Amino acid sequence: MQTERLYFREFTMDDAPLLMDLNSDPDVIRYTGDKLITDLEEYKKILSDIILPQYKNKMGRWAVCLKSNDEFIGWCGLKYLADSNVTDLGYRFFKRHWGKGYATESAKAVIDYGVNVLQLKNIVARAAKENTASINVIKKLGFVYLKDEMCAHDPAEVYILK
Ligand SMILES: CC(C)(COP(=O)(O)OP(=O)(O)OC[C@H]1O[C@@H](n2cnc3c(N)ncnc32)[C@H](O)[C@@H]1OP(=O)(O)O)[C@@H](O)C(=O)NCCC(=O)NCCS
Repeated sequence: MQTERLYFREFTMDDAPLLMDLNSDPDVIRYTGDKLITDLEEYKKILSDIILPQYKNKMGRWAVCLKSNDEFIGWCGLKYLADSNVTDLGYRFFKRHWGKGYATESAKAVIDYGVNVLQLKNIVARAAKENTASINVIKKLGFVYLKDEMCAHDPAEVYILK
């Protein structure tokens, strides 16, 4: 899948260093509920136990790369949450790539795929109340407020796609 400036690919087990690099910036994980992990083996486990198994549902967190130079800039994608029977939109990018519209551009394509190809009904997105940039993106994408929730220890808001 691709957009004007970006293309998506599935992660592989070789991508553990990329994920560790992305999550090594405290600003990137400030509102995500992740803790700082410096052991590559733990990222391999995240890939094998959490990220790669999602792909059998024809969705998942996809690596996002720039078409212009193939640089890995972060990830975006859908994740099915069996507990609540909803599909969660998520995204995360290196700080040097914030504010260029990449979250909006990639998430639009992911939502379009979820709605039109997978025919998903309940797509939700959640963000810590203080994560203004993410809430801004969520609203721009056409989500509406559903409820408050706690995300790790932060008060968060849950939105649903109209
Ligand atoms: C949240 C995140 C994905 C946004 O990515 P991005 O590519 O910078 O987002 P976009 O450029 O598409 O849009 C961001 C919007 O928020 C606005 N924004 C950014 N920071 C803001 C702030 N502090 N206050 C108000 N608005 C802000 C931008 O102006 C932009 O809106 P606009 O297009 O109307 O101008 C990025 O900051 C990130 O990776 N953060 C760390 C991980 C994370 O928090 N993920 C989300 C978890 S819910």
